[in-house]
Amino acid sequence: MSQYFDLSIRRIEIKKPKRDLKPVIKLQDEVNKTLLHDEYYYPTDERTIQECLDGDYILLGVYNKDKLIAASFAFEGGLFFSKPITDWMEIPGNKIMCHEFVVVDMEYRGNGIQKRFMDATIREARQMGYDTIWCCAHPNNTPSVCSIESTGYKFADRFVVDGWPRNVYYRSTSIQR
Ligand SMILES: CC(C)(COP(=O)(O)OP(=O)(O)OC[C@H]1O[C@@H](n2cnc3c(N)ncnc32)[C@H](O)[C@@H]1OP(=O)(O)O)[C@@H](O)C(=O)NCCC(=O)NCCS
Repeated sequence: MSQYFDLSIRRIEIKKPKRDLKPVIKLQDEVNKTLLHDEYYYPTDERTIQECLDGDYILLGVYNKDKLIAASFAFEGGLFFSKPITDWMEIPGNKIMCHEFVVVDMEYRGNGIQKRFMDATIREARQMGYDTIWCCAHPNNTPSVCSIESTGYKFADRFVVDGWPRNVYYRSTSIQR
């Protein structure tokens, strides 16, 4: 990897989902092969992403030249193991967004990209009128847990579903001190 590269976050434009989501799905598949443990991350399938595009969503990317090297996806509401998060637990707030995933190409990790995606997503969600945002992570997925906690999310609960442990976090989208 070259020493200098542009880490700016760009919106991933979706005009034709089947075509425009391809790089995101490809990146997810590549990242999936490099997981420290299989259960740390479960890729969101193309159809689910496509369905979420009907509502509000925030899809962001970081590129090296034209290659997508990191992606982030958030959408309204959000499912936790196929059920609305509010079926699992109480989340305060009227308009809730879910930060569904962040994936960063192996070569570009350790540059704080995840944290920047999270900050940008909270800002964007606030502008879209969402007052609460939630996300989850495997408790031992250290980089993910560090980014989540250092972005001001608070741990809410831990669930183990079909052997998959997940910490759930949420925060207000308002600016916190
Ligand atoms: C999780 C992931 C998105 C993190 O991406 P990243 O932008 O490279 O994150 P960073 O390496 O900058 O690390 C983020 C934080 O974890 C810390 N960290 C990273 N590795 C660590 C380790 N082994 N031990 C302790 N802290 C660690 C970093 O210091 C940073 O903390 P800070 O923000 O407080 O400084 C990336 O590793 C990835 O794509 N993993 C596979 C997919 C995945 O698990 N996605 C998240 C679930 S949705």
